[in-house]
Amino acid sequence: MGFNAQKIVKSFGNPPTVVLKEISLDVADGEFVAITGRSGSGKSTLLYSLSTLDPLTSGTLLLDGQDTATLSQKDLHRFRNLNMGFVFQFHYLLPELNCEENVLFPARKTDRHEELRSHAVQLMEDFEIGHIRKKLSGQISGGERQRVAIARAMVMKPKYLLADEPTGNLDSISGEKVLSIFERVNQKNGTTVIMVTHDQGYAHRARRRIGLVDGRIDFDERT
Ligand SMILES: Nc1ncnc2c1ncn2[C@@H]1O[C@H](COP(=O)(O)OP(=O)(O)O)[C@@H](O)[C@H]1O
Ligand SMILES: [Mg+2]
Repeated sequence: MGFNAQKIVKSFGNPPTVVLKEISLDVADGEFVAITGRSGSGKSTLLYSLSTLDPLTSGTLLLDGQDTATLSQKDLHRFRNLNMGFVFQFHYLLPELNCEENVLFPARKTDRHEELRSHAVQLMEDFEIGHIRKKLSGQISGGERQRVAIARAMVMKPKYLLADEPTGNLDSISGEKVLSIFERVNQKNGTTVIMVTHDQGYAHRARRRIGLVDGRIDFDERT
């Protein structure tokens, strides 16, 4: 299962600028992968292409063995909602909701709201943000906001956690907390983690590192 990308190409604009140049890549269930590379090398584009948030220009992407080209937008949306959690460099919390409501936001349309509420509370305890459940995002620190965003990404118990520079805005203590949460969900729950980072120290915490140079895979190494 997992991700199976075959010669994926992503270009933007007209005339097209080719950003991903026939990338082929498998990510199996349970892996912890760091995607590294210089700014502009295509890391975010690769992550969004793998996530199906961005359509491919060409190539094939299988998710859990299913060809994503055969799925409608609605199917893809449903797949992502059930199976993928996203964490970005900026947290995108809703300012008018408190932290617990933000964490529960992806669950709002499900009939599992009550079950997921206790899961949300548990996640917030695990991530040491239980005490700020009723606070608004404007009333907490940057590191706390990012942990709220991770709890929100995990609330639906996704198989896949995709993160784009999740420590980019954080001091080293907060960054360390984020990394240790990722390690924990990967080891404890078997969640597949794909994390874009240009921090070499954090990249080496992943068991597999994929380096991009100019839209191509430069190295793919495992610890
Ligand atoms: N929506 C877009 N439209 C046009 N160009 C884009 C778009 N998204 C990314 N790019 C270009 O693709 C290249 C790779 O971008 P990106 O994937 O964001 O790199 P990274 O995350 O490694 O810094 C950059 O040159 C960027 O300008
Ligand atoms: Mg980027």
